[in-house]
Amino acid sequence: MLPLIKYPHPLLKRKLSPVEKFNSELKHIVRDMFETMYAYNGIGLAANQVGIDLQIVVVDISYKEKNVKSTSFALINPKILQYSSKKIDAEEGCLSFPGYYERIKRAETIEVEYFDINGKKNKIIVNNLLSRVLQHEIDHINGISFIQRMSADKRLKFYVLYFLGKHKF
Ligand code: CO
Repeated sequence: MLPLIKYPHPLLKRKLSPVEKFNSELKHIVRDMFETMYAYNGIGLAANQVGIDLQIVVVDISYKEKNVKSTSFALINPKILQYSSKKIDAEEGCLSFPGYYERIKRAETIEVEYFDINGKKNKIIVNNLLSRVLQHEIDHINGISFIQRMSADKRLKFYVLYFLGKHKF
């Protein structure tokens, strides 16, 4: 288990360093990230959320979408190549903002390029929940939190409540 980094920790605002070595240390980090994500009932986790400055994302949406099979995977140095013009508005949460949920518009479908844990390059097209989770997590490794993706009024509401001490993370 790794310690969970919460808002407003500066590591959440940092663009993370790319992974250069696909070695046993990387496998170890990925395993610990999965363990931590499952322990907190998360469906996605980025490395800076557990204090690690490397471009690593782990996801597993299978427990939220029961008829999806084998969605547990790690993405190393992921990049979003394309976003669909169609957007979907849905509620989103984040392990670094426990208990806080807000609606956010995200592209329905994206194309993502990433390396797997063995260093093999992959390209995938994903939609719906997996698309949302990957957009959220890939934002994290680029130093972007979901509050920055909210509409201006929702973001203002977040900051006002935060500075009034109504959100404690
Ligand atoms: Co998050």
